[in-house]
Amino acid sequence: MPEGGRRVLEVLGLEIVFHTRDGEIHAVNDVSFSLAPGEVLGVVGESGSGKSVTMMSLIGLLPSPPARVCRGQVLLDGENLLMVSPARMRQVRGGEVGFVFQDPMTSLNPVFTVGYQLAEPLRRHMGMTKRAARARSIELLELVGIPDAAARLRDYPHQFSGGMRQRVMIAIALACEPKVLIADEPTTALDVTIQAQILELLQDLRAQLGMAIIWITHDLGVIAGIADRVMVMYGGQVVEQAPVREVFGNPQHPYTRALLKTVPSVTGARAARLEVIEGQPPILTSAPSACSFRDRCADRAAQCDRENPVLRAIGGGHDVACHQSYGGCPA
Ligand SMILES: Nc1ncnc2c1ncn2[C@@H]1O[C@H](COP(=O)(O)OP(=O)(O)OP(=O)(O)O)[C@@H](O)[C@H]1O
Ligand SMILES: [Mg+2]
Repeated sequence: MPEGGRRVLEVLGLEIVFHTRDGEIHAVNDVSFSLAPGEVLGVVGESGSGKSVTMMSLIGLLPSPPARVCRGQVLLDGENLLMVSPARMRQVRGGEVGFVFQDPMTSLNPVFTVGYQLAEPLRRHMGMTKRAARARSIELLELVGIPDAAARLRDYPHQFSGGMRQRVMIAIALACEPKVLIADEPTTALDVTIQAQILELLQDLRAQLGMAIIWITHDLGVIAGIADRVMVMYGGQVVEQAPVREVFGNPQHPYTRALLKTVPSVTGARAARLEVIEGQPPILTSAPSACSFRDRCADRAAQCDRENPVLRAIGGGHDVACHQSYGGCPA
């Protein structure tokens, strides 16, 4: 985590439990991170590690029940979003924080035209007139590479292909020039050219507006290309976070190392994707009391069975949660 400077978003000690018929699932355990304006945070970790749940909780998108945020703070420019009224949250969502989730519940509404879904936040959050909102909607669709944009405003989501719908969602997320964009696997359905185009567009917006971006992906090539910092999640915890070059050049956590090993070349022309790492993901029925990676770890020591390692700074904005990786350079 970089020292000093303003933070647009600060997440502190987040804990989320799902109450299911089969018992509790501790999906997110003591997760903390922060974002500076204009910063891009890449989030990686295997399926079920808590990436989506963490990010959905920031803007009140988790179904509750079964989810319960038991502890923590989510500070958007100092305002704790876990304490705000539903009305204020609606203002934040789509206004100050834009989001693209793959969950169909949070994506496009099938009963409204794309034009309406673009113009509505512009009118609501930005106070635009109908005419101005229409003009801006066309611009936004053009920005994300949708041909014949003016005519397509009248179309419904089902009239767009999967890739086009994804671009429409990105256009909506960007419409109100949010301070923070949360993008959960937003480009996986897109072909490589469009993906590059959208990444470029986001880089521009980040430069122009100082928009910070949280980018969840399994694609380490994209992370290498776009992120300033990388947060690695495992079993509902942050196990490592560091500037992007540190993560690729000096990974400390055995899980991060395993991830990187599964990828032939992160800077290669072909998209590098995370492969499966041997062993089972941890069972999250209680808060961790030992290292959750220990069963899959080659460096397992006695301490790893007794104590869950906390995230500790090892210098250079590099944090790691591993008993074996603090060697020599304390915070
Ligand atoms: N509705 C739910 N009910 C119960 N448990 C849930 C629910 N949604 C998520 N979880 C639990 O939260 C954990 C984290 O899920 P999450 O969707 O955040 O994973 P993820 O890291 O985004 O994975 P992926 O890479 O597959 O998208 C899962 O292991 C799951 O057990
Ligand atoms: Mg997910």
